[in-house]
Amino acid sequence: MATAATPEELRDFVEQLVGPMVLKPDRTVARINNTNLGGDRSWCDAITSGGRIRTRDPGVMSGPPGGNLAQVLVSSADRIRGGTARKRRSSVILLSSAQASEMLNQFQHGNQSRTSLDLGKTETAVSLQEGYVHLSNEARVSLDNLRRIANCEDAIFAVWEGTVEKVIRFSNATLRTYKLRPTADWPALEISGILMHRIKGTTPKRDAEAKLRLVSPVHGAVLDTCMGLGYTAFLAASTADSVTAIEKDDNVLEMARLNPYSQSLFQEPKIKLIHGDATQVIPGFGNALFDIVNHDPPTLRIAGELYADAFYAHLLRILKPGGKLLHYTGAPGSRGRRVDLAASVTRRLARVGFAKVHHDSETSCVVAARPSGRL
Ligand SMILES: C[S@@+](CC[C@H](N)C(=O)[O-])C[C@H]1O[C@@H](n2cnc3c(N)ncnc32)[C@H](O)[C@@H]1O
Repeated sequence: MATAATPEELRDFVEQLVGPMVLKPDRTVARINNTNLGGDRSWCDAITSGGRIRTRDPGVMSGPPGGNLAQVLVSSADRIRGGTARKRRSSVILLSSAQASEMLNQFQHGNQSRTSLDLGKTETAVSLQEGYVHLSNEARVSLDNLRRIANCEDAIFAVWEGTVEKVIRFSNATLRTYKLRPTADWPALEISGILMHRIKGTTPKRDAEAKLRLVSPVHGAVLDTCMGLGYTAFLAASTADSVTAIEKDDNVLEMARLNPYSQSLFQEPKIKLIHGDATQVIPGFGNALFDIVNHDPPTLRIAGELYADAFYAHLLRILKPGGKLLHYTGAPGSRGRRVDLAASVTRRLARVGFAKVHHDSETSCVVAARPSGRL
């Protein structure tokens, strides 16, 4: 598979899979830690040239001989995602550092422990026998692996029979990595290293609640343009009559299916999930359908079309008169740029016809309303 990615772009997703990758100053040789990809040695060399990266040691990387790094990664990542993606259903056991550390503590005092196998939603009794923690009839984890999980604070692990795998997948369709990352409450989603949820000074749960408070009471028909793990969508569904949620990326849907906290997306009859591109789906919607539109797109750099005037005009059109728009703009880059993005979105929403447009700095959201009278 050829790729047009630059060495720096490739480095981003390599780092998601295998940790730090050092590009030498002339950018021709990189050192990659590949133990997570199943290699026996911790480091192998890769050569970058003409926007490609070739591994010097493809055997170690388990890729096709002479293949470029993207090929090698796809083939190696298949092993990683094979486990979590195929075995993702409700039976999959998820552990993060918090549960692993707690179990290790408790096992210092005996062979029994209580822990959560679904990231804190429920609790289960587990036991230690001959160096293995028996999590269920089928699944056990060695003490060594438990220590590995305890020491890794930025990943979630899936345990299935004898295997323990980070919940991270690489898509050769999008050339991106998708990873669930533990937080103090609901997991955050990372796409190629970019967090899709706010975790600095807040948590995904508190952040979603705070955002929805800006448009409360949340009632009637709600549209969630960029569903992600669906936190805003299912919170809205607890008080709204209906929620339509759109998600374009099937890798994200896969992560949502795996995430214990996203399950109501697939179970709550009030939620209608559309797998599609919001820029194509929304123009097909009729006028004045929604009381609230929540628009939480990825960054401007990744998804500029979701910040375009033409798209905003559709959001205005599909809102009922008096209906509200909640638009997360984030705070990308430096302080100066942060002010600029919020200000530019505010200005352009007003220009396409929104009223009462204002910025909430705490949540980094712009809130606006469709005027009540005729447009
Ligand atoms: C910041 S996340 C949304 C998080 C979400 N509010 C939640 O509570 O989990 C943005 C999501 O938008 C999705 N996305 C990006 N472009 C899209 C598009 N054109 N149409 C629909 N979804 C899109 C991404 O795949 C990503 O999952």
